[in-house]
Amino acid sequence: MLLHMSTWAEVEGFLNRSRTVVIPIGSNEQHGPTGLLGTDWLCPEIIAHEAQKSGDILVAPTFNIGMAQHHLGFPGTISLRPSTFIAAIGDWCRSLSAHGFERLYFLNGHGGNVATIEAAFSELYAEASFAGKPRGFSCRLKNWWELKGVMGLAASQFPVGHGSHATPSEIAVTQWAYPDSIKTAEYSPKIAPTGPIREALDFRARYPDGRMGSDPALATPEKGGELVRMAADGLLEDVAAFTAEANPQLAG
Ligand code: NI
Repeated sequence: MLLHMSTWAEVEGFLNRSRTVVIPIGSNEQHGPTGLLGTDWLCPEIIAHEAQKSGDILVAPTFNIGMAQHHLGFPGTISLRPSTFIAAIGDWCRSLSAHGFERLYFLNGHGGNVATIEAAFSELYAEASFAGKPRGFSCRLKNWWELKGVMGLAASQFPVGHGSHATPSEIAVTQWAYPDSIKTAEYSPKIAPTGPIREALDFRARYPDGRMGSDPALATPEKGGELVRMAADGLLEDVAAFTAEANPQLAG
């Protein structure tokens, strides 16, 4: 079930059978010469939307702008600074919690978001801790490539040239969902360099075409479809486990 395609009455009905909501979260940032700018928000969205076709989960609108300051040297990248991102995540969580959602599951598509999302959770918990009150909801962060079986599958599909940015696995997922938007280019070098991540000008100087350690030419829509199926199954399993987590405040 997609929240943005539902009515308030349908969401109220969903709350009568579940208090869990899944929020795809990512980033709009350059992904090399052939990767879509939306890759990091499209991947978790594609996986969550696929999962809700076979499982009774509620998927919130995709939080599609994240922490991507290091990609701002490339046109099309849009970034929130960490403090803005923390504030926005907080208000998404407070909104959903106000309706009765108690398990807020963030399915993430951008490694650069992780530190800030975890900091946002800590800010939310701190509000309750300083007040000496229960928070009323729990947050979970999961990167889609960490869902059960996905990393192993990607390693078998792309034993060399996977890399860490503009990877063939994430590009394959978008190719499967949007075959009309597949782009091609001659990559030079074939496998991109690796190194540290700092500010935007430094990033562009180190990684001139935007890739890090990857060979996106290895991506195919078929491999993307295999990844989406594995990840969607893993998501349903992980969301069920999160939903079933005991709440010691209620038990006490
Ligand atoms: Ni990415």
